Amino acid sequence: MSKHVTARRHTPRSLAALDAPIVALTAYTTPMARLMDPHCDLLLVGDSLGMVVYGMDSTLAVTPEMMIAHGQAVVRGSQNACVAIDLPFGSYQQSPQQAFAVSAEIMAKTGAGCVKLEGGVEMAETVHFLTQRGIPVIGHIGLKPQAVHTHGGFRTVGRGSEAEQIMQDAKAIEAAGAFSIVIESTMEPVAREISETLSVPTIGIGASPACGGQVLVGEDMLGLFSDFTPRFVKRFAAIGEQVDKAVAEYAEAVRNRSFPGPEQCVGMPKKDS
Ligand code: KIV
Repeated sequence: MSKHVTARRHTPRSLAALDAPIVALTAYTTPMARLMDPHCDLLLVGDSLGMVVYGMDSTLAVTPEMMIAHGQAVVRGSQNACVAIDLPFGSYQQSPQQAFAVSAEIMAKTGAGCVKLEGGVEMAETVHFLTQRGIPVIGHIGLKPQAVHTHGGFRTVGRGSEAEQIMQDAKAIEAAGAFSIVIESTMEPVAREISETLSVPTIGIGASPACGGQVLVGEDMLGLFSDFTPRFVKRFAAIGEQVDKAVAEYAEAVRNRSFPGPEQCVGMPKKDS
């Protein structure tokens, strides 16, 4: 299995210049970052951690403090991938100044290479404000989970008149200076056309193979999170089943006193044979 370790950590600039698709996964912890880092160009500390790690039913209650703690963990566990951190709901939508303050705090406290924020035309001014002041930004269009209540649920977008709006969003966020744009859960032809139109790489999740890269939630693709599995998730492993089996074997071993055995104990007398 190939590893794509670079001499130096990827930066927004090196990601945008890659001549192969950007390989991205979400990561929230140091151990998972260590495992993913040698294979990935981009590790995203997504606000999906609210649902995946904390059991929330949306991302809306995630705070900057949570993003900073998990961002620090992922930066500590990686040396190859660029680390991007999501700006959580309510921390940036009010004004470009509010977005700058939270982005600067997140980047200073974590050492991450960039931030990601959700929004289209309405967030272009903010993306411009950030990128003009030294904050590299990944945009996020299509399904925007922080807008789940106005979207009417976690649904595929881009049918009918929505298609033109998403194209306008993509163009506005690119023109504002984002170096890459995530397209989530969007009709394939729409994501394809956007990817073929923009100069910056798009990163698809439930979008199109024509995107400039792909991202999945790590726990989804590893089979570790089964509360909610969108159609676009492909399971590359079934680790949840292995955890279930291992914990059942451990419980049995504790109950029948076969664990701990002499190998795990110091000075345990051998049983008479
Ligand atoms: O929060 C997240 O995990 C994301 C990905 C789905 C792109 O934004």
